[in-house]
Amino acid sequence: MEPTTHRQVENATAPSAGGFRDPDGESSHLFGQPPAMDRSTFDRRQAEFWGTRTNLRAFDHPVVERFARQRVEWLAKSLGGPPPRTALDVGCGDGFGQAYMQRICPVIFGCDASPEMLASNPLPRSRLCRADAYQLPFADQSFDLVYCWELLHHIGEPERVVREMARTARDRVLVCEPNAWNPAMALFSTLVPEERGALRFTPLSLRGIMKRAGLRDIRVCAVGTFTPNRTPDRLSQLLHRLPYRVPWIGMYTIGIGRRG
Ligand SMILES: C[S@@+](CC[C@H](N)C(=O)[O-])C[C@H]1O[C@@H](n2cnc3c(N)ncnc32)[C@H](O)[C@@H]1O
Repeated sequence: MEPTTHRQVENATAPSAGGFRDPDGESSHLFGQPPAMDRSTFDRRQAEFWGTRTNLRAFDHPVVERFARQRVEWLAKSLGGPPPRTALDVGCGDGFGQAYMQRICPVIFGCDASPEMLASNPLPRSRLCRADAYQLPFADQSFDLVYCWELLHHIGEPERVVREMARTARDRVLVCEPNAWNPAMALFSTLVPEERGALRFTPLSLRGIMKRAGLRDIRVCAVGTFTPNRTPDRLSQLLHRLPYRVPWIGMYTIGIGRRG
C-alpha cells in the first residue's frame, strides 16, 4: 500500500501553544506539574534533536534484539483479536519495532519525521515514508493495526497523535511508552533533557490519553526490566530472566485499544 500523499513534516500544522496539563484537569505529569515549555517549542526541539542523530544501538544489537523479541512475544499473546495483516509503525525511526513486529504482522509500513533515522531503517524504502505523526499521509482505516514504540514522549500533544493513529487504524491501536512510575526510568527521564517528556507517561496517564483520543476497550500494562539502548549486555541477560509483566512499576507501559 502506498501513502495517499507524502506530506512532509515541514508542512504540518504547528501544534498549539500551552502547557501540558490535560484539558479535563487530570494532570499527566508524574509530580502534578506541567514541564515549563509550550508544546510547539517542545516539538521543535525534538525535531532538531532527531534530525541529527540515530539510536545509540542498531536494531540487530543483541540487547536491542533481546528487548524487542521479549516485547513482541508478549504482544503476540496479549494483542487479542485476529492477527493483523497490515500495520503502520508511527515514528518507526531506525526500525527497532518494525524489524521484530514482523513476527506478528507480515506487512508493516513505517513513517518518521527524521530522514536521519529513516536512513538507518533496515526495511525496504518502499515500506517507509517521511511524515509527521500529527498528519499521517494515509486514508482513514488503512491498516489493521497502527502502533508506536517510544514515540509519544517525544510529542508535545500525544492525544492528537493517538487520535490520528486511531483514524488510520481499521481495528487496533497499540502504544508503548516509558513508565514514569519506574524509579530508574523516572531518574533517567529527569536527567536527560530530550527524554524529559517521559515523565508525563504512566499506566494511568496513558489510559487517559487513549480514552480521550476516542479509543475503546483499552487495556494498559506495565512491563519490562531493561532498556534497549543503554543496558549493558550482561545485565540485560540477567534482567531478561525476570517476569516481563511488572505490575505498576515495569519500565514501560503498553496500551492496547480499539478504534471507537
Ligand atoms: C525514541 S525514537 C523511537 C524510534 C522507534 N520507534 C524505536 O522504537 O526505536 C523516537 C522517534 O520519534 C520520531 N518523531 C518524533 N517526533 C515525531 C513526529 N512529530 N512525527 C513523526 N516522528 C516523530 C523521531 O524522529 C524518532 O525516530
